[in-house]
Amino acid sequence: MKLADNKATLSFSNGSPSIEMPVYSGSIGPDVIDIRKLYGQTGMFTYDPGFLSTASCQSDITFIDGDKGELLYRGYPIEQLANHGDYLDTCYLLLHGDLPDAKQSTDFHKLVNNHTMVNEQMQFFLRGFRRDAHPMAVMTGLVGALSAFYHDSTDITNPEHREISAIRLIAKLPTLVAMSYKYGIGQPFMYPQNSLSYSGNFLRMMFGVPCEDYVVNPVLERALDRIFILHADHEQNASTSTVRLCGSSGTNPFAAVAAGVACLWGPAHGGANEACLKMLDDIQKMGGISKVGEFMEQVKDKNSGVKLMGFGHRVYKNYDPRAKLMQETCNEVLAELGLENDPMFKLAKQVEKIALEDDYFVSRKLYPNVDFYSGIVQRAIGIPVNLFTGVFALARTVGWIAQLNEMIGDPEYKIGRPRQLFTGSPRRNVPGAK
Ligand code: ACO
Repeated sequence: MKLADNKATLSFSNGSPSIEMPVYSGSIGPDVIDIRKLYGQTGMFTYDPGFLSTASCQSDITFIDGDKGELLYRGYPIEQLANHGDYLDTCYLLLHGDLPDAKQSTDFHKLVNNHTMVNEQMQFFLRGFRRDAHPMAVMTGLVGALSAFYHDSTDITNPEHREISAIRLIAKLPTLVAMSYKYGIGQPFMYPQNSLSYSGNFLRMMFGVPCEDYVVNPVLERALDRIFILHADHEQNASTSTVRLCGSSGTNPFAAVAAGVACLWGPAHGGANEACLKMLDDIQKMGGISKVGEFMEQVKDKNSGVKLMGFGHRVYKNYDPRAKLMQETCNEVLAELGLENDPMFKLAKQVEKIALEDDYFVSRKLYPNVDFYSGIVQRAIGIPVNLFTGVFALARTVGWIAQLNEMIGDPEYKIGRPRQLFTGSPRRNVPGAK
């Protein structure tokens, strides 16, 4: 970041002296006012619940222009990566800053492939869960538990530990997600098959059984790879900020990523894909397309507490570029599986059409986000609804680690410690105490 030409001046109506604060510019995007000395100079904090106007860090990784609907990973538009890239090359890009050349790509794929198995003890840990446990509850536990199995990569201050824990997390998440699925349905775990692609291997671990060969469908393999690319990073969203804050205490990367998994689970964040499909299912049960208008009235009624899941975003005030790509993938997958007339997809398109024409959504700049179509694609592939957020977590793991490692390497890094505006009781005495 560099100092901008101008400065910010903060003045007070009570006659206190005004203060000047530096302004910094990034490479693109809004400038920031440096308020770090504000408390020392004025005894005041800033107040910004929900971080509506607060940049919590500087970052080189991902850039979003919410008004344009643009998403760049290390400068590359998401559309180009999704159309010409591969998930593991995207992981390399996020972690290292540039796309790999041919040799770097081969080496990286090999490195990840060599770490896909999990410690055999993990399955006994997994077996402690109820079979009907939500996969995100299981994943929060399993990812945190990795730190109990891989002691040699838990020192976040050691660059080698950071490097190996990154590879382990990227490589093992598909295995863990598939294991939590197989456990839930009572089928044997499938060991990874390293001759397959990252997404092909995931499909086989999910849907293969030991008594039969599994043939990977290339259209579904590509669709899944695209889902992974689209979800790989999204700058300082709630789960990424959680990982950064958790990791800022110096905790190990597995623990920090487990915190990210827990945060992602919520329906306002990664849980929205599951919530969106449930919503479409509810509308279907109400009577389908003919009831969309009625459902929309509920959404617009603030007292109903009903939200249009898969719509709206804190940053995008335009169409989420990932939603466009996901809609394309949705068309490809449904055509491949002969599901072009899938009623859920038709319903989703109708909901989107009505919302995009309705003044409530237009005036608030509410557009479909990535979760609107990802559930339909995942369901068509055969992924159960309660595993959607687990697939999102798998894909986002690389972003969490890239952001965590960037924070640890930042000379300005400090433990994250927000302040507060206290509104509770001033000091008072317990009865009988002085
Ligand atoms: N349905 C109906 N109204 C909505 C929706 C929605 N999905 N989203 C926002 N609004 C309304 C709000 O009620 C508010 O209206 P008001 O100005 O009359 O009070 C206005 O639009 C602005 O919304 P905020 O809640 O202030 O926006 P915020 O940035 O805090 O929330 C969020 C963003 C959480 C994503 C919200 O849009 C939402 O809950 N969407 C549904 C859940 C969802 O799809 N989440 C996935 C996000 S993408 C991701 O995590 C991968």
